[in-house]
Amino acid sequence: MNNKWIWEADSLKLDNESLLVNETIFHNANGYIGVRSNFEEGYPQGYDTIRGSYINGFYDIAQMKQAEKLCGMVEEKQTMLNVADGQTVRLFVGDEEFSMFTGTVLSSRRWLDMQAGYTARSVVWRSPLGKEVEILSRRMTSFTHLPLFLLEYRVTPRNFTGEVRLVSRHNGAVENYCNPNDPRVAGERFQHLIPRSAEIVDGVSYLLTETASSGLTVCTAVKNVCSLGEGQPVLEGHSATVTFRAEAREGEEIHLTKYMVFADSIRSQNPLAQARQEMAAVTAVPVTKLYEEQRAYLDAFWDTSALEIDGDDDLAVAVRYNQYQLIQSVGKDPHSNIAAKGLSGEGYEGHYFWDTEMYMQPFFTLTNPEISRNLVEYRYAILDYARENARILGHTKGAAYPWRTIMGRECSGYYPSGSAQYHISGDIAYSTVAYYLATGDLDFIARKGGEIVFETARMWLDLGNYHDGRFEIHEVTGPDEYTCLVSNNYFTNLNAQYNLHWAVRFYELLKEAGKLSPVAEKIGLQEEEIQQFRQAEKAMYLPYDEKLGINPQDDSFLSKKVWDIANTPKEKFPLLLHYHPMYLYRFQVCKQADTVLAHFIFEDAQDMDTIARSFAYYEKVTTHDSSLSTCIYSIVASKLGLKDKAYAYFGDSAKLDLFNTHHNTKDGIHTANMGGTYMAIVYGFGGFRLKESGAWFAPSLPESWEGYRFKLQYLGSRIRVEVKAQSVTFTLENGNPVTIHVYGKEYTLAQSLRVPLA
Ligand code: BGC
Repeated sequence: MNNKWIWEADSLKLDNESLLVNETIFHNANGYIGVRSNFEEGYPQGYDTIRGSYINGFYDIAQMKQAEKLCGMVEEKQTMLNVADGQTVRLFVGDEEFSMFTGTVLSSRRWLDMQAGYTARSVVWRSPLGKEVEILSRRMTSFTHLPLFLLEYRVTPRNFTGEVRLVSRHNGAVENYCNPNDPRVAGERFQHLIPRSAEIVDGVSYLLTETASSGLTVCTAVKNVCSLGEGQPVLEGHSATVTFRAEAREGEEIHLTKYMVFADSIRSQNPLAQARQEMAAVTAVPVTKLYEEQRAYLDAFWDTSALEIDGDDDLAVAVRYNQYQLIQSVGKDPHSNIAAKGLSGEGYEGHYFWDTEMYMQPFFTLTNPEISRNLVEYRYAILDYARENARILGHTKGAAYPWRTIMGRECSGYYPSGSAQYHISGDIAYSTVAYYLATGDLDFIARKGGEIVFETARMWLDLGNYHDGRFEIHEVTGPDEYTCLVSNNYFTNLNAQYNLHWAVRFYELLKEAGKLSPVAEKIGLQEEEIQQFRQAEKAMYLPYDEKLGINPQDDSFLSKKVWDIANTPKEKFPLLLHYHPMYLYRFQVCKQADTVLAHFIFEDAQDMDTIARSFAYYEKVTTHDSSLSTCIYSIVASKLGLKDKAYAYFGDSAKLDLFNTHHNTKDGIHTANMGGTYMAIVYGFGGFRLKESGAWFAPSLPESWEGYRFKLQYLGSRIRVEVKAQSVTFTLENGNPVTIHVYGKEYTLAQSLRVPLA
């Protein structure tokens, strides 16, 4: 039943792998909370399941033992917690308990409605003794009441009248998932939650829990409203269970509405009082109204953000799914950001990486700038930790952002492919600049954004050094995690150069606007330092190989032996799970786009011929073991006019989670790739670039499509872009006329503009 708005799974597949993947695919989230989509009734013994509910930014601290206690090694990490389970509902028909694994499943569907904002599951089940019931469950995490997870559970007896029991549970004694054999999820089991109090007030269960080490508390509250009558929750340990029992009549629907709210001490002084307040607020709104509000929120979201594709329905719905996950995952307050797996699972432990700035934030910058600003606010909020981190790494000044974090401190245990990725600081500066270029919001730069860019520029100055008149950067890791601790990584050097450039530009712009003094005084920024930024920017060394006519990934990359990707057995991918890191480091083999990413982000640094040769070279040595890769290859292939490649890479990116092509969707969605899918259309096929010189478009149309459309917010105006077989039309939907460039030519967009497709 897939259509434009619905994603439906083959839910008759009951093997463990499919169940785990669907827990992720159909999770509900709203940027504050996320609930995996487990079967309400659970699974039989022996099935692996990740039954989790998460709060963005809510964490505990776990030890990270370092075998050798070298100076500055990270010894503690933050980990996002599974805080409580509120999704359990068990159904008994007489003495028989409903399970997908007993009796006969006569039909089963599971779907996500991206217009209405809920997931649903419908099952017709015949018990071993022949009683038939129809079950419909519907779930949503509200975008308008962020603490609310709502679960509606309906049961209709089809061929009997008799006793039906619903047992609804609220459990605060939960744990996180771990897998000691996979470096991408937590390796050890920790007891993170300590029960503090459990109480029932007016039929609502409140479970207050404290974290073992981070000193945070969370309160979850559950209220059940059932058509079978009143039920009194019973406390047992740190959980509450309520049973509804009645004679059900054939054909008559039984209806349970389960409200669950979350409150935490990061956002509230008194989570218990907050949970009471939230519960009172949400239960005062009729359920139909809650759904109407959800729909209205999403109508507005799709109106500004939708990417529409004509001519390939499967891809169109996959692209929509990816966009939906972005709005589900993004934090909407400065306490949170976007985790690498959103709020859909425990992979990467809820950490925020550069994925946000380079892969996801562009979508928000261009469609929902206030969300983009909030992402910068978060980075501003942890700037002091980035300063602290810079000192730990030996820098006397500036800020070095942690490679992975929740509350601001570094969580990366393996520094060669963690802390050494200094580029994250430049990436944060880059996205701050992008926010400014898209909005012209210089006030925000004066208040917060500028400080980030100045402090990261200071760090680069301290990190690099002059050698033979050129500014070089040693012992860093670029985006490609199969090549670590190198000198002059081309991407990193360009990224540092851009950061230094914008430190100078913001200094000038703020000075001109009379807005410089507060920030300059706060951080002691002097004209002399600005001169040093200028000098380092100009002298930045950008490696180039004359013989091959390409940019080497770093000083030593091209002199290593080449990994034979074609003859590596399929089961050896991803290579990181099968080869010692040092073995990988000795080869020319890339986990992901690195120099090719530089050719996208900093495209003006090289001519097209160099970019074309580079693309061809790196394509042969890249495994795309990271999900952050194919979207970038698609964009650069588009730029080079390699239409088939651009389309194939885009397809890989769009379908990655829905078809579990990386075989780890069970641990959560790949949010960066989802942002990458958006970029592969807007920046790739649409040829869009946001530069100091303005907004640039160079659209092309994939052969199998009839057309595509998207909208952008640019300098306060909304532009609709429609690409068709013969032409591209730009329409100013609101705001002042803006200057745009199409295929290199400048236009003023006042109402609408039609340009033939090149
Ligand atoms: C990638 C990194 C990425 C991280 C989190 C790794 O596999 O190599 O670039 O930041 O995953 O998504």
